[in-house]
Amino acid sequence: MATSLPRHVGIIMDGNGRWAQLRRQPRIEGHRVGAQSVRDITRAARQLGIEALTLYAFSSQNWSRPVDEVAALMELLRDYLVDERPEIMDNQIRLFAIGDLERLPALVRDPLDALCRDSAHHRGMTLTLALSYGGRESLARAARSLAVQVAAGTLDPRAIDVEALGRALPTGELPPLDLLIRTSGEQRISNFMLWELAYAELVFVDVLWPDFRRAELDRCLEAYAARERRFGLTSSQLADTDSDVEPTSG
Ligand code: FPP
Repeated sequence: MATSLPRHVGIIMDGNGRWAQLRRQPRIEGHRVGAQSVRDITRAARQLGIEALTLYAFSSQNWSRPVDEVAALMELLRDYLVDERPEIMDNQIRLFAIGDLERLPALVRDPLDALCRDSAHHRGMTLTLALSYGGRESLARAARSLAVQVAAGTLDPRAIDVEALGRALPTGELPPLDLLIRTSGEQRISNFMLWELAYAELVFVDVLWPDFRRAELDRCLEAYAARERRFGLTSSQLADTDSDVEPTSG
């Protein structure tokens, strides 16, 4: 069976706005302190030996937020990419990005592209930022790319199965998603990694993202370790097998 440490953790970082509101501060202050949580959790995940950490930093739908909030978030992302570059490079972290990256302004896109390129050979941990990302949009793009190959005569439609579609997704090279954490008490998926969530364990915590630090992550990992992952089998079948029975990647 799977070891008790998840290989791949995804996080819906929610509650920045409420954190700020509770302190009578502008929403962006919640995002700013939330960026500190990103640093803290990334460092903790790397130290723990988690192979992949995927953070939902900006959804396809977030473009519809007030213009000044979107602009401030883009500046925060740029600052993060510039400030964290040494930490990412020194710790063998591979930065990866998923989503409609073309929509990002150059102030984010340029340092993002550079850091993804320069860290591509790192094997310590893959940190994936979901930016301008939507799970449905991602699936539609993967379906489109397969359809293009079929139309070009380079792909037999009968070869499109679960593995092929999983590989066509931008997460296709990452380990299967084992654990999804959502902060702030909301219990929704909000268009995050819809395909990849198929067999993930879900942990919802009441803590707002700016307050989510190493101790909170440890608690989520303990909750994960206590779960029995069955992948559609029965408990007694699981007891009979020593191997990881997850049927598919992704
Ligand atoms: C959700 O909280 C959070 C976001 C939409 C943005 C997440 C951004 C960060 C954590 C900071 C920058 C990211 C990186 C990678 C450095 P919300 O605003 O929806 O909170 P609310 O539900 O309380 O209003």
